[in-house]
Amino acid sequence: MSIYILGIESSCDDTSAAIIKDNVVLSNVIANQSVHEQYGGVVPELASRAHQQNIIPVIDAAIRQANIQKNDIHAVAFTKGPGLLGSLLVGVSFAKAFALALNIPLVEVDHLEAHILAHFLQNQEHSITHPKFPFLCLTVSGGHTQIVKVEAYNKTTIIGQTIDDAAGEAFDKIAKIMQLPYPGGPVLDKMAQVGNADKFKFPKPNIKDFDYSFSGLKTSVLYFLRDQLKENPNFIEEHKVDLAASVQKTIVDILMQKLIKASKATGIKEIAIAGGVSANSGLRNAVLAQKEQLGWNVFLPHISFSTDNAAMIAIAGYFKYQDQIFSNQHATPYSRSKTNKKYF
Ligand code: KG4
Ligand code: ZN
Repeated sequence: MSIYILGIESSCDDTSAAIIKDNVVLSNVIANQSVHEQYGGVVPELASRAHQQNIIPVIDAAIRQANIQKNDIHAVAFTKGPGLLGSLLVGVSFAKAFALALNIPLVEVDHLEAHILAHFLQNQEHSITHPKFPFLCLTVSGGHTQIVKVEAYNKTTIIGQTIDDAAGEAFDKIAKIMQLPYPGGPVLDKMAQVGNADKFKFPKPNIKDFDYSFSGLKTSVLYFLRDQLKENPNFIEEHKVDLAASVQKTIVDILMQKLIKASKATGIKEIAIAGGVSANSGLRNAVLAQKEQLGWNVFLPHISFSTDNAAMIAIAGYFKYQDQIFSNQHATPYSRSKTNKKYF
């Protein structure tokens, strides 16, 4: 018998709902919140209010696009955290009410684990190949940067993570210094594709084990540009594509160095990337290059499943549903990442 799962994602500034039938995506509706653009970043209170307005229309659209009835749904999967508490509360409350009304199970999902499990989603049009266990996943988003060892659908261990800013945050903050619109990651990526990545050199951090740091890079770009602008007020405008390419190369090099180190230390060559920054062309090319160099089996998520979406919440919920791991009406959201980090 096929299982239908409704997934709900509301951890940051996207309200999303999806219906999957087993691992096949029937609908994946995302309402973005343009209200934050004028502030150059997400304003939590405005995000919560926009989720309140979006949640019912988005869920309604997901059910209609999937061409099913409410009563066909077997379980509701929702993002429990990490994320903005006010935003999460909207999704959590809706999920609880919906599950109660239909008398179906609730499944709680960790947003970062869902980014990883998005690799097991299948589009209706074409099938995908997915990583085999155990694999390493570099999860890179606006709020997190982690190297995760994945041994089973519901067994993940964080083996490295950022000690300060996330990779996406570095992209966004540096883009902001360059006066580019928010979120800066995709804009910088586009500009980088026509720039010279060797034009400017920025220092790379020296952090222990498999951990990352990105706050130093942001500061060095800030000071470098401040000095250059004193000499030439048009410096950013005149060099923007080379700056974008050089910054992107530095971030990608930092990410790759630890991912390669982790692969060598664990002997795992099954490598996936996930999260918003996994849409980055430089990172995708750098990971693909290791197919030849190190014999990696590389898995890149479909672009529509890299940034925040509810289909990934639904598939993570599907695997928990199969293992009978259920939540309940007492579930409360959490804002910070779970800390199950281990070195080996
Ligand atoms: O996973 P995500 O959608 O939301 C979080 O869970 O944070 O990731 C959003 C982040 C933002 O920082 C955005 O700038 C970055 O992903 N991003 C990119 C690209 N597309 C999205 N960064 C670099 N290059 C891209 N193409
Ligand atoms: Zn995310």
